[in-house]
Amino acid sequence: MKKIFDTHAHYDDEAFDSDREELLASMKEQGVERIVNVSANLREIQETLKLIERFPFFYGAAGVHPDDTKELNEENFEQIRRAAMHEKMVAIGEIGLDYYWDSSDRETQKKWFLRQLELARELDKPVIIHSREAAQDTLELIRQAGGPDFSMVIHCFSYSTELAREYLNMGYYLGIGGVVTYKNGRKLKEVVSYMPLDRILLETDAPYLTPVPFRGKRNSSEKIHYVAEEIARLKNISQDEVLEAAWNNACRFYRLNEQQ
Ligand code: NI
Repeated sequence: MKKIFDTHAHYDDEAFDSDREELLASMKEQGVERIVNVSANLREIQETLKLIERFPFFYGAAGVHPDDTKELNEENFEQIRRAAMHEKMVAIGEIGLDYYWDSSDRETQKKWFLRQLELARELDKPVIIHSREAAQDTLELIRQAGGPDFSMVIHCFSYSTELAREYLNMGYYLGIGGVVTYKNGRKLKEVVSYMPLDRILLETDAPYLTPVPFRGKRNSSEKIHYVAEEIARLKNISQDEVLEAAWNNACRFYRLNEQQ
């Protein structure tokens, strides 16, 4: 069985409160060998710290999602920096712009997006980008901050093939999850067919974005198989090839040893 690396999940979510222990204890036997728990606000950063200290196969990302940037100020920003210095915090994220929900005003989102990019540069960490209905501004701010100097993944990539090309040209990765299995995921299927295999990071965004045939139910890392299966179909290769490449890509991106 090929090893699974779930590059983006939220196991601190309350959807896992009833059975988190049993579920995480069963991951290894289902082939899930590494998980990066991604935080979206200051409280989740603390929860992520607990998970990575508790479970050897867990790593973390520290960052504040655009929706929650309204909670940030100069004092509490230091909490992100302090957490990000933990040896198992392998990235800054998820950070970016979200003009779909607009739950923090756009100037606030932009300000703290740039500040967290500076932090990533200062600490020399890869970055997990969240960008929803903010394609132009996201690209502009990333370029303004230094573009190809960064190592980045565009999480849950939802834009066009043209935009995918822009990001791939800067050396970035694209995060591919359950959406690629959806009937209405045609745009993403095109992107996956177009992009090179060595830039795909497999992700669940658990508990969200559950792949077909479990769409609508709670997502968890072992279901990444269905995502790999669809990518294999689109690229006309085997599922094992997809899983193996995705493992290597994830280790390269998060700077972890490929062996364990
Ligand atoms: Ni997420």
